[in-house]
Amino acid sequence: MEKQILALQIAHILGEEYPRDWVQQQIETPKQSSHGDLAFPCFPLAKTLKKSPHLIAEEVSSQLKHPIFKDVQTIGGYINIFLAQGFVAEHTLNQFYQDPEAFGTHEFGKGKTVVLDMSAPNIAKPFSMGHLRSTVIGNALSNLAQKCGYETVKINYIGDYGTQFGKLLAAYHKWGQEESLKQNPIQELTRVYVEFHHASKEDPSLIDEGREWFKKLEDNDEEAVALWKWFKAVSLEEFEKIYNLLGITFDLTRGEAYYNDKMDTTIDMLQEKGILEKSEGAQVVRLDEEELPPCLIRKSNGTTIYATRDLTAAIDRKKTYDFDEALYVVGHEQTLHFQQIKHVLKKADLAWADQLKHISFGMMLQDGKKMSTRQGKTVLLEQALKEAISQAAKNIKEKNPQLKDAEEVAEQVGVGAVIFHDLKHDRRNDVEFSLEDMLTFEGHTAPYIQYTYARTVSLLEKGNFDPNEPVTDVQTASAWPLIKTIRLFPEVIERAYQEYDPSKLARHLLDGARHFNKFYAHTKVVGSDEEQALLSLIYAVNHQLKEGLSILGIQAPENM
Ligand code: ARG
Repeated sequence: MEKQILALQIAHILGEEYPRDWVQQQIETPKQSSHGDLAFPCFPLAKTLKKSPHLIAEEVSSQLKHPIFKDVQTIGGYINIFLAQGFVAEHTLNQFYQDPEAFGTHEFGKGKTVVLDMSAPNIAKPFSMGHLRSTVIGNALSNLAQKCGYETVKINYIGDYGTQFGKLLAAYHKWGQEESLKQNPIQELTRVYVEFHHASKEDPSLIDEGREWFKKLEDNDEEAVALWKWFKAVSLEEFEKIYNLLGITFDLTRGEAYYNDKMDTTIDMLQEKGILEKSEGAQVVRLDEEELPPCLIRKSNGTTIYATRDLTAAIDRKKTYDFDEALYVVGHEQTLHFQQIKHVLKKADLAWADQLKHISFGMMLQDGKKMSTRQGKTVLLEQALKEAISQAAKNIKEKNPQLKDAEEVAEQVGVGAVIFHDLKHDRRNDVEFSLEDMLTFEGHTAPYIQYTYARTVSLLEKGNFDPNEPVTDVQTASAWPLIKTIRLFPEVIERAYQEYDPSKLARHLLDGARHFNKFYAHTKVVGSDEEQALLSLIYAVNHQLKEGLSILGIQAPENM
């Protein structure tokens, strides 16, 4: 509302040439509170008005008047507006209490569908930190999309195909032990795979054996298929343990292999469009104009590859879901692959190719280095999550030895800590994996927000607050940062989705928690003159912390 009022006034002052919508788009929310609550940059006007931005700011600001503007200042070419607390508090809280569940939701995604390709671990291999990142980022984006009105489809595109499975089959056939596989499937499969890798250096004929096994798999040989299916089943069972811990589900779990018998149609289509070319016996789509290397479609030995399956899957998903956006939440290292996929589809005249977006992210580091699967260096994910839970349990025991449901809370805190640690960083950056950092109650962590949430719960109980009887005009000056936190929530949700960046929400929640703790340290609530108004505000904060965490995929225990 404040933005609309400001835009209307500025547009009126500037005259017809600058429509209100345009003006409103220019209005910013300053990062520093010393720059006010709203800011209008005058730089884009300088050329046409033939005046300096500074002068324009001076002239326009002198004419701005409204009861909701407490103060209007200019700094450089900016007009900075300081809002009147009483008005904003009342307006914001009235909006919130009209329908707390709807506060922060949007309509712009209504009737549209977003398909998310996320998690996508590879069978017979450990679930890596990269897959964890994809899982939690994808899940948060899906929740954000829903808040914006979209339908979402979360797809777990399991890596269950490729020539490496020939090697794995050969290796298992030679060295595998059924018992070990049953006990500890991923470890056993990794063991034989590594063994194969070493042995094949001494004995290159093993490579041929691997090829033969892959051929058998492609030809639907009974033994090969049965083994492969078994590997897949036991791997999925392992992954399921991790998804259960994380509390994440999918709408569809489908392996790459599903597309094996559907790729001919894709290849025929590329042929018909006249973009498939022969190159040294292989078939490729050249992407010279796009300045990309050719996309390999079929190898000279007739086998298809990762890209062929992804092209087929994209076409199939478009047909099935008629998506408006298809997000591929996959690490940076696959940037070229997704550029190629998109451009091959574009070359095939499929206009919707532009709806494909690679949501890339950085690596998880340990002591500044990539966490690698080799050399036994990986922190296995399930282990890491369990470690986080037991650390959280320890911390809780120290802080609150009487706590009921301590085990459940420890799980919510430990898992939440891992998820939040990932999401609070801009996804494009690398993240250092540090259990200690993610679990502290005082830092930029989930436990800090969860703990703050629990404080608000007990305060509301103490004040016997009833959300059906809110009082919305808050005058206490120290409450202003909290009012702003509430006011900004809808905008944060919108931007976090539109920029595919959950860290915007994560940081907003940290700010909110910090503002609350600061406020509560210095302000008497229960027993004060404004008790009901302050509790009404705190309830809105409480609601937002819980809601925000839930969007990030994190639970908020009532007590901790
Ligand atoms: N399984 C692949 C990997 O671990 C990621 C798959 C990503 N999704 C896709 N549609 N290609 O590298």
